[in-house]
Amino acid sequence: MTKYYAEPFKIKMVEPIKILTKEERIEKIEEANYNVFALNSDDVYIDLLTDSGTGAMSANQWAGIMVGDEAYSGSRSYKNLMISAADVFGYKYYQPVHQGRAAEKVVMPIFLQEGKVAISNMHFDTTRAHVELAGARAIDCVIPEALDTVNFHPFKGNMDNARMKELIEENGSENVGMIIITVTNNSAGGQPVSMANIKETSEIAKSYGIPVCIDAARYAENSYFIKMREDGYADKSIKEIAQEMFSYADVFTMSAKKDAIINMGGLIGVKDDPELFETVKARTIPYEGFISYGGLSGRDIEAMAIGLQEGTSFDFLQYRIGQMEYLAGKLDEIGIAYQSPVGGHAVFLDAKKLLSHIPYHEFPAQALAIELYIEAGIRSCDIGSYMMGNDPDTGEQIESQFEFTRLAVPRRVYTQSHLDVIVEALKEIRDRKDQIKGYEIKWEPKVLRHFTAKLKPL
Ligand code: F0G
Repeated sequence: MTKYYAEPFKIKMVEPIKILTKEERIEKIEEANYNVFALNSDDVYIDLLTDSGTGAMSANQWAGIMVGDEAYSGSRSYKNLMISAADVFGYKYYQPVHQGRAAEKVVMPIFLQEGKVAISNMHFDTTRAHVELAGARAIDCVIPEALDTVNFHPFKGNMDNARMKELIEENGSENVGMIIITVTNNSAGGQPVSMANIKETSEIAKSYGIPVCIDAARYAENSYFIKMREDGYADKSIKEIAQEMFSYADVFTMSAKKDAIINMGGLIGVKDDPELFETVKARTIPYEGFISYGGLSGRDIEAMAIGLQEGTSFDFLQYRIGQMEYLAGKLDEIGIAYQSPVGGHAVFLDAKKLLSHIPYHEFPAQALAIELYIEAGIRSCDIGSYMMGNDPDTGEQIESQFEFTRLAVPRRVYTQSHLDVIVEALKEIRDRKDQIKGYEIKWEPKVLRHFTAKLKPL
């Protein structure tokens, strides 16, 4: 039997959700031109579009909202954030910003310019965008095991360090502006990166004098996986593990909308370099606002200070990642493939396997996302060829290495019964999978098409 770790909280406030009839959902998705981003959230029953900014804050965080200090400078909430962040990450300097991509906008151009490259275990879309906006090129370098969704590997998010070394040599170390370690590796399926791997990446980077940046959006989930799977960490606390992880980098950019469980916020950390921190501050002021608020209200900063602590609770993480493991266990029972072992914030369904009759250019993962909405009002999204788009040079559809339908689970929001609804829906879809057809694009914008493109069933 698949275990479910009961919620380590009780519910004080609820938000009603409604279920439309199947006929209504068929109409809504047609009106949305078969693009889940065009659906009204009121027409969605279980929203698994993202785990970012969609978590439920605690009573303590809401209390923090009320006492947040809105002073322009010298705010008490800013001081609370500095204390909380130092306790979790062990760095000397921190700069709040309004979200993860704002941190990227401030930090990337310091290290990256025209002619430079960034190497990462995998760049998240906005990270890649900011590398490219700075004039540089982004190279992904995840271990090959990540591409095999079936076979077990405890740390599928790892950097391929041997390949990274080759890439440094090929590009010339002076042209590698930074190494970015994304924890967990979102694009590979929320997959963790091991401590040994982070340490080795860092040692290689140091030997070439290349700075290391951690994309820290899911730092707590990554620390939890290290504790559970890596030798020598079982008796260490999540914070001890996080501090060791961050000790191998020089700087971090973080979206606080994930593991810090807030609806808006981001953070930059600088280990110990005062000059680098001066540059970060100088860039933050014109883009984000004065250093003590960085594009956020004092109340958001207060909620972040509290959320950083709550996000590192072992009981919370056991329940949280337990939800993914529960879902994955149920999928094993009904024979539905996903990126396995399951990651930290989402189940990445392998649509290539389930809908093997739909070729990549007819978007199997998007087709599965649409079926999940029609079947049970569940909103997920395509992380596959539909999201990938066309080759900018040839205009041809790119074939993605994965065809994932991502079920991203918001933190502290849905219960075991909601997860069971997802499993039931997938069972129904599995039983009629041969009737499911692919899609073609009626209209698309030039960039980031998946947000606004219009599709039609074939
Ligand atoms: N880095 C990673 C690894 C992310 O997953 C995200 C956001 C960002 C950076 C950017 O942060 O949204 O606060 O600006 N990921 C969300 C997702 C949007 O759905 O996976 P942001």
